[in-house]
Amino acid sequence: MVKSNKKGFTLDIAFICLICMLPLMWLIWRGYNGDLGVNPIETIVRQLGVWGLRLLIVGLAITPVVRIFKQPRLIRWRRPIGLFAFAYILLHLTSYIGIDQYFDWSAIWKDIVKRPYITFGMVGFVLLIPLAVTSFNGAIKAIGGRVWRNLHKLIYLIVPLGVLHYFLLAKADKTMPLIYGAILIVLLGWRLLEAAKRRK
Ligand code: HEM
Repeated sequence: MVKSNKKGFTLDIAFICLICMLPLMWLIWRGYNGDLGVNPIETIVRQLGVWGLRLLIVGLAITPVVRIFKQPRLIRWRRPIGLFAFAYILLHLTSYIGIDQYFDWSAIWKDIVKRPYITFGMVGFVLLIPLAVTSFNGAIKAIGGRVWRNLHKLIYLIVPLGVLHYFLLAKADKTMPLIYGAILIVLLGWRLLEAAKRRK
C-alpha cells in the first residue's frame, strides 16, 4: 500500500514536470525550425518571461483549488510548479543578459537603474532566489517550518512585481497584463478572505 502510494506520488510529480517542460520544448522546437518570428531574441526572452509568470500564478492558484474542490493531493504540485517558474525566470534573465545584451554589464546596470520595468523584474527575481533555495526538505528542516512559511509569504510580493513588470513593459496593448493582474487580485483576495475567516 505504502509502495503504491509512493509510486503514485512519483508518477504525479513526473507528470507535472513534463507539463511544465512543454513550453520550453516547444520554444526549442520553434527555434530549431527557424519559426521564432521576425525578432527571435525578443520571442525567446518574452516567452520565457511569460511562462515564468504563468507558472507563478498557477502555483498561487493551487491552494484555493485544493480547498474549494477538496483535492488535497494537488498540493504536491505546488513545489515543482514553483521551481519551474523559477527556472523559466532564470532562463528569461539569462537570455536577456546573454543574447539580448551580449553580457554588456554596464548597459544591463543602466537598464536596471533607469527602466522601472527592469527594476521591478530584477527585485522580483532576487526575492525568488531564497524561495527556490529553500524549496528542498533539507532546507526546510534547517530553517524550521515557521521561518519557511514566513519566508514563502514573499510570493505575495513577487507575483505582483512580475505583473507590474509586464504592465510597464507592454507599450500599446495592456490587455494581457491587466488580465494577469485581475487573476492575481482574485487569488490574493481569496487568501485575505480566508485569513479573515480564520481570525474570526
Ligand atoms: C519575477 C521576475 C520576472 C517575471 C515574472 C517576468 C515576466 C516577464 C513577462 C511576462 C514579460 C512579457 C512577455 C510578453 O510580452 O509576452 C517579460 C518581458 C521582459 N522581461 Fe521579464 N520577468 C521577470 C524578471 C525579469 C528580469 C530580472 C529581467 C532583466 C533584468 C527581465 C527582462 C525582461 C525583458 C528585457 C523583457 C522584454 C521586453 C521587451 O521585449 O520589450 N525580466 N518579463
